[in-house]
Amino acid sequence: MRRTRLWRATLALVPVLGLAAAPAIFSSKASDVWNRTWCSLFLRQDDQGREYGADSLDPLLWYQTHHLLTGESHRRALAGLDEFLRTHAEREVQDPLERAIFQHHLWAVFDWAMAGDNYPRERHELEVRLAQTIRRVALTAQQIRALPDTYSEAVAARLPLLPPDLFTAGGPWVCLSAWSDQPTAAVHFTGRSRFLVFMRLPGGRDATLAYVRELRSAHELPLTGPDGRFLNLKLAQFPAGTEVALVRQAILIDSERRLAPTSLTESVQLRVYRTITPGNTFMNFINGPSSHDQDFFEFRMSRPELFARHSGGLVAVAPRETEFATFSTHGLDDFESVHREGRGIILERCRACHVDSGIHSVQSRLQWMDASADPVGGNPVAWETQATIHKKEQQPDFANLSSLW
Ligand code: HEC
Repeated sequence: MRRTRLWRATLALVPVLGLAAAPAIFSSKASDVWNRTWCSLFLRQDDQGREYGADSLDPLLWYQTHHLLTGESHRRALAGLDEFLRTHAEREVQDPLERAIFQHHLWAVFDWAMAGDNYPRERHELEVRLAQTIRRVALTAQQIRALPDTYSEAVAARLPLLPPDLFTAGGPWVCLSAWSDQPTAAVHFTGRSRFLVFMRLPGGRDATLAYVRELRSAHELPLTGPDGRFLNLKLAQFPAGTEVALVRQAILIDSERRLAPTSLTESVQLRVYRTITPGNTFMNFINGPSSHDQDFFEFRMSRPELFARHSGGLVAVAPRETEFATFSTHGLDDFESVHREGRGIILERCRACHVDSGIHSVQSRLQWMDASADPVGGNPVAWETQATIHKKEQQPDFANLSSLW
């Protein structure tokens, strides 16, 4: 923990973008090229020269971002990647964990570059170099299988509030799957991570399975609710004390260009229903006070903690902790746009999307409720992994990455 604070303090004080020396994000043995490349791609600077993004889960890049595509930031990103490739910097860092994280994040920048239409030449210049760097740092399938299960490490370290039995076979948590070729967490899908949805009723596994079966046998398509939205208010409600979880774990690209799952946990989001007040809707939430039925929690991967092998790298998000939101936004770049949202409180944003009463706030329900049956002996985690990988293999961004491999 001490190391993390020191590291954060260093990042806060040193204006990195203008300097040749970059902070040691990768191990002290690592060549400076790794750190410089990282900083050129992931650090953003606000008007006051404060830097953000070094330990962010996702790059601070939005659909409408110009950064990395124009001017000095573009030049610096290309120069960093060129230096990496020219000097064969992939040889400098052998730790599989550090290589995995480096690749996984570069892949996110690649997909971001692929997502836009403006600056086609600049995007292509970035994509070519990113694809080559991603290939150079790729681990073998065997190395990927040997990566740690960081959720188990966090449980072993007794990280407070993290459910210790989430992945316990036959345990109280049930992993919910649509059992279709579409990943269950359809909105979160990137193809670079698998997202697993879990539910636990206070009565344990049997009660949870019975509830899920009841919902599935209802065969009720969503009906229009009183505020014009699609809510089936007749759905069986779960009891207070129910918990739901969403786990995100990294997928990597192995040295043979195959997509490979890992148990490197990037985030765990939890919602606990203390009570269930009927009639909570998004409109109530917008128009005034609505009841606070749920407690929200999140644990995120912190790279310094992960590399130091503390608690599987997972750190609890603090109640008032803020971030620049990148998930499900309008795509405006918070550093470039005139209408800046600024940093919002992470755990307050949850309510906006999960405000309805009980089961109606479970956003993935339409996917897994539609599943008429579980395949005999089906393993939901393996199924979700396959569905995610299969879908990513069909995406144009992965086809382009493959052609530049
Ligand atoms: C911008 C909207 C949005 C925000 C903000 C958001 N979520 Fe979600 N969340 C979703 C959607 C949509 C799903 C369903 C999965 C999918 O389709 O990807 C989901 C799924 C979940 C699930 C799995 C159970 C379910 O509802 O399907 C949990 C647990 C969860 N979110 C917790 C959180 C927590 C905790 C926060 C705040 C830290 C949060 N969410 C913030 C949109 C959001």
